[in-house]
Amino acid sequence: MELSSVVCICILLSVTLVVAPVSGTELTSNTTEWVWEGESVSLDCTTQVENGTFLWKVNGDSLPASDRYYISKNEANTNSTLIISPIFRNDTGSFICEVSNTTVNETSNAVNISVAKPPDSLSIGCSAASLTGGVQLTCSWIGGDPAADIELSFNGTIDKGKNEVNRSVNLDNDVQQPEFICQGNQVGKTSKCNITLERPLSTSHDNNAVTSATEGENIKLTVSLTSQNSLTPEYAWVRLSTDTVNITSDGKYKVESSSSGSTLHISSATGSESGTYECRARNIIGTTTFKFNVEVKSKGSGGLSGGAIAGIVIGVLAGVALIGVGVFFLVKKLK
Ligand SMILES: *[C@@H]1O[C@H](CO)[C@@H](O)[C@H](O)[C@H]1NC(C)=O
Ligand SMILES: *[C@@H]1O[C@H](CO)[C@@H](O)[C@H](O)[C@H]1NC(C)=O
Ligand SMILES: *[C@@H]1O[C@H](CO)[C@@H](O)[C@H](O)[C@H]1NC(C)=O
Ligand SMILES: *[C@@H]1O[C@H](CO)[C@@H](O)[C@H](O)[C@H]1NC(C)=O
Ligand SMILES: *[C@@H]1O[C@H](CO)[C@@H](O)[C@H](O)[C@H]1NC(C)=O
Repeated sequence: MELSSVVCICILLSVTLVVAPVSGTELTSNTTEWVWEGESVSLDCTTQVENGTFLWKVNGDSLPASDRYYISKNEANTNSTLIISPIFRNDTGSFICEVSNTTVNETSNAVNISVAKPPDSLSIGCSAASLTGGVQLTCSWIGGDPAADIELSFNGTIDKGKNEVNRSVNLDNDVQQPEFICQGNQVGKTSKCNITLERPLSTSHDNNAVTSATEGENIKLTVSLTSQNSLTPEYAWVRLSTDTVNITSDGKYKVESSSSGSTLHISSATGSESGTYECRARNIIGTTTFKFNVEVKSKGSGGLSGGAIAGIVIGVLAGVALIGVGVFFLVKKLK
């Protein structure tokens, strides 16, 4: 009987010890764990200790002297606020406040503050650059500390890394999905960009149009791309005859290309350059064929066709006949 009551008292005592509040002094922050350089943070210390004196500490030491620390307290002496503005990376640490009076000395819970340096630019960058034989895709959000986590998504696969992620895409492989997406995350702050790549297109091109020239003239065949993100395609010019002939720049032909289009120059055309030409523009998304129909006319006699000459002869003859009729009436009236 006596033993059980002792055990009972013991249990009650230990339960009371565990449940009793460890400290009547509590520290809170108005931010989550990470803050960015240049921002402001407010730490709030509330206590039940009467007539206490507040002492702020970081990493176990008193706060260093700084004109970026603003400490204030309420009149009742139950609350002290520390504002750090602007916060720097070297403010990273574990903050506590201690409250003591003549009889008690209480320490608050610790609040950890981590200060991040943001990446150099506000948002992540997406870029696609042409390389010989393909394209280099880049997602870049560099300069952050800690470094931003980067994800590059394209054609159904994701590449991950820190600060910057690149992927080379070969022209010879098919692309299932033309959208290229970059996602960045620096300790919870996120940024996203995307580019939808397109095959080379030209809304102004007409495959049925005929380019006419006279023998000896220079001919210019131009493809002007209107697609926004077609990169710099690879262009191949061919001439369609019994078999397809690849055109390379030589004395007769000259090809000039850029990211916005391609031009084939044919110098002093002859009848044998009449025919169909194709410009085949290819990038990682696909190939577009632009057709040109060229008609080179012979110079003929003195530059006028037989029909035109016949017309002039008839006109002259008719004029002479009319003058004859006029003269006839004039002579008749005078009589
Ligand atoms: C925290 O408090 C500071 C100082 O009052 C203020 O500038 C900052 O915007 C606050 N931060 C948040 C996340 O409310
Ligand atoms: C706190 O200070 C007030 C007035 O200065 C005094 O009346 C009171 O007894 C003090 N309380 C304690 C717990 O020291
Ligand atoms: C923290 O860094 C800032 C700027 O980098 C510097 O001015 C300051 O002296 C450093 N130390 C403290 C305690 O603020
Ligand atoms: C309160 O106690 C801590 C250790 O728990 C000690 O470091 C500190 O100096 C004490 N403060 C006062 C004002 O007595
Ligand atoms: C795109 O994905 C398909 C299927 O996984 C693959 O066969 C193809 O080679 C990929 N294309 C590129 C350009 O990586």
